[in-house]
Amino acid sequence: MKLSQILFSQGFGTRRACAGLIDAGLVRIGGQVMDDPAADVPTEGLVFEVEGQAWPFHEKALVMLHKPAGYECSQKPRHHPSVLTLLPGPLRERGLQPIGRLDEDTTGLLLLTDDGTLIHRLTSPKHHVPKVYEVGCKHPVDATQVERLLAGVVLDDDPAPVRAAVCEVVGERGIRLTLTEGKYHQVKRMVAAVGNRVEALHRSSFGPLVLPADLAPGRWCWLAGWPPG
Ligand code: URA
Repeated sequence: MKLSQILFSQGFGTRRACAGLIDAGLVRIGGQVMDDPAADVPTEGLVFEVEGQAWPFHEKALVMLHKPAGYECSQKPRHHPSVLTLLPGPLRERGLQPIGRLDEDTTGLLLLTDDGTLIHRLTSPKHHVPKVYEVGCKHPVDATQVERLLAGVVLDDDPAPVRAAVCEVVGERGIRLTLTEGKYHQVKRMVAAVGNRVEALHRSSFGPLVLPADLAPGRWCWLAGWPPG
């Protein structure tokens, strides 16, 4: 692929801006300055540098963000900054979008991608991707609440009950819930439906992906090789 096209596809601005970065000697591959925008460069395994920062080439971008509280998943946030402001310019430029949403006050694992097919695949109710939530409750959790969460509760927008696939009690006021749907405010509404209230909510995993302990709130990392196929 032409070098200027590579930069363009990876979110480094307009075609003209990308050619400008190359002309200005700001792009390196393997430590060597690449100053020909028309140079043909293989993209397989490519890592290029722009202004000293290394960028792996990804035909489609998929990243994991440790969402902190105080950020909205919407692209047009109303009361708090968007999670997109936590990503570097090139990823924002590529139009990454969250795969599903977490509430403003929810923390934890959020995936973002520019791959529309993947968003559809991972958010479609048909696919039942399990997500694990660590829930801090206002009141002590009792066995009846756990039984009801597992048996299924009816929420106000759908007569079909929603149930937790797994509900583990973690301390007096904590539960770990595994859900396979992604309804609006689902954890908060399910917990309210059994007579308790969510005070803290953190997503610790999404499908087989677990939020790494060393990914600090507000930080992101690339995901490669997942999901398969
Ligand atoms: N359920 C909720 O209620 N909020 C979230 O952010 C995620 C799941």
